[in-house]
Amino acid sequence: MEEWYKKIDGSSTVDELEQIRIAIFGKKGILAAEFAKMKSIAAQDRAGFAKELNEHKSSLMEQLRAKKEQLMLMKLQEDMEAEAIDVTLFSSMSQRGGLHPVMQVMDKIVEYFVSMNFSINTAKMIEDDFHNFEALNLPKYHPARDMQDTFYFKDEMLLRTHTSPVQIRTMMKEQPPIRMIAPGAVFRRDFDITHTPMFHQVEGLVVDDESVVSFANLKYILEDFLHYMFADVEVRFRPSFFPFTEPSAEVDISCIFCKGSGCRVCSQTGWLEVLGCGMVDQNVFDAVGYKNVSGYAFGLGVERFAMLIHHIGDLRSLFEGDIRLLEQFR
Ligand code: PHE
Repeated sequence: MEEWYKKIDGSSTVDELEQIRIAIFGKKGILAAEFAKMKSIAAQDRAGFAKELNEHKSSLMEQLRAKKEQLMLMKLQEDMEAEAIDVTLFSSMSQRGGLHPVMQVMDKIVEYFVSMNFSINTAKMIEDDFHNFEALNLPKYHPARDMQDTFYFKDEMLLRTHTSPVQIRTMMKEQPPIRMIAPGAVFRRDFDITHTPMFHQVEGLVVDDESVVSFANLKYILEDFLHYMFADVEVRFRPSFFPFTEPSAEVDISCIFCKGSGCRVCSQTGWLEVLGCGMVDQNVFDAVGYKNVSGYAFGLGVERFAMLIHHIGDLRSLFEGDIRLLEQFR
């Protein structure tokens, strides 16, 4: 028997080990042969013989198992070393891109709000009807749902059409005061020179005691933010409608191309719309079970900001993945 322990110990590949296993445990293996000898052994010695054999059987099995584990680990290590890629190697073929302009603008937006003590929250891009619509005061069959043409999955699941569901998820998880932004990708069934099916938004939400949060706070922070993003612009608030805010407003900046005198980009109005905002609707607070609080919320499209800041004419060019575009923004 001793030789078999040595053979197991000395095997150097999983295949070799398997051959040894068959030689020991197979139908025609040495254990079968040993057990067959039982018949010719004197009755009084049989029990001792069987016991010894069974002990060998289990210790050989255990040794095989341990050896196999060790060999497989070694093989894995070897494979990993053989397949390793040196990512630091220089290649004359490499073309260097850069951080995507949308992400550069996103970073700048996030930086502003972080400096104003907002925390950053995120949630999944696949949402359910409740968080994307219902809890935001957009009941089923409400005509305002048409403002956002939606990609649906089965079972009431959908690709979120805005970052506003992060408001709901945050309020259902945390207690006020809340002061957060939610950057992320959103999806709508739209495709033309100013719309792509996927784009990015930054949502903002501030909730605190009734006496603390007012429209004046909202107006201050958005004006300050827009002056940070676009030096030398005028900012105006225009009454508007969103189901989840009341009152609601859209925010315009004076056209950065014609300085407000009227041009093609601003459709001769002298103004460019850049944000939606308002005071959080009481129905939204009811949906998340908040009482005696007040809050404001806002949402903006990052691509829209990027197009204005970098004078990009066709939004779709941002998503073609052409490295020549990225090279311009290094
Ligand atoms: N969710 C709105 C949209 O996508 C934007 C918005 C957010 C408006 C928060 C008001 C308050 O159009």
